Amino acid sequence: MITRVLSTSDEDIRTAAQIIREGGIVGMPTETVYGLAGNALSAESAARIYAAKGRPSDNPLIVHIAEFSQIAPLVRDVPHNAKVLFDTFSPGPLTVILPKTDIIPKETSGGLDTVGIRIPADKTARRLISACGFPLAAPSANRSGSPSPTTARHVTDDMDGRIPAVIDGGSCAVGVESTVVSCGADGLITILRPGHVSYEEIADLIGADSVRLAKGVTERLDDGERVLSPGMKYRHYAPSADAAIVTGDKAAFEKYVREHSGSNVYAMGYGDEELDDLIPYGLTPDEQAHALFDVLRRLDEIGAERVYIRCPERDGVGLAVYNRLLRAAGFEVIDASDR
Ligand code: TXA
Ligand code: MG
Repeated sequence: MITRVLSTSDEDIRTAAQIIREGGIVGMPTETVYGLAGNALSAESAARIYAAKGRPSDNPLIVHIAEFSQIAPLVRDVPHNAKVLFDTFSPGPLTVILPKTDIIPKETSGGLDTVGIRIPADKTARRLISACGFPLAAPSANRSGSPSPTTARHVTDDMDGRIPAVIDGGSCAVGVESTVVSCGADGLITILRPGHVSYEEIADLIGADSVRLAKGVTERLDDGERVLSPGMKYRHYAPSADAAIVTGDKAAFEKYVREHSGSNVYAMGYGDEELDDLIPYGLTPDEQAHALFDVLRRLDEIGAERVYIRCPERDGVGLAVYNRLLRAAGFEVIDASDR
């Protein structure tokens, strides 16, 4: 099978919808990252998605709808705070985990009795969902363990021959995956994966007492520790290179990298550093989120063996960048500030 690259024309969207209706899966652009989209109500489609990704089947798929009104048959309850989050941040980069109904097969939900619901802002994604007429299950369209894809080219690099088609919608605006939250019946919101919708924005909206960060977001979970989100326990985003995050200011980062230079050693910095072998990932948190996965993929292409990453800001979308980089670096953080 050769993977076809489709455009965003009406005709190509119809072609993609037809593939999905027949049980196939298609690479779909969203504002966060590209997804591998299949019929969320079909156990066979879910099985195909897991097979194409090489993903463990206990890691649940996010279900995408085009409008909030389509949520009713999928979930048993939408607690008040969940509704407030949808009203404020959807369509957009937010996924809310809610108790599922039987219409969602256990294959889609990784055996859990909950389901993550997301209403993407990306127009192409919404047109595709509407053309199908049913919700789409879509994990990020990378091979399991690799950085998420933010261009159609990244999708074909990982999936060529494994899926029939990808829609090329250009480069994803946000660049990191959606903010995943769970919502208890008591209204407590737990952030399982930070994204562009930030902790601060959620706390401003519903009150800091009603929101918390799950432990795995910034700390390594102990072996066998109970995880709230199956995705937290898997190695992720990791380049082949041995990467480490370096904390401290710009001068401390430059000094540390110069003292540890060598062949196939690279610095992944903001771009304002005076360093050789520098691969910049952006000056602002938004730029960094946008470039992050492309840069991690590029490090593999150039054969980097050791990478020192200048630590991003850890608030706003910066927390999402930090969370992904921690996983890419296997939680290795070097403090260069007091050297
Ligand atoms: O931005 C995104 O969310 C992208 C685009 C394509 O929408 N999708 C995405 O899906 O990142 P995926 O499968 O790569 O990541 C979903 C994460 C996983 O870590 C998974 O474990 C968690 O969300 N998740 C999904 N459903 C869950 C549930 N019912 N309970 C707990 N965690 C869940
Ligand atoms: Mg993923």
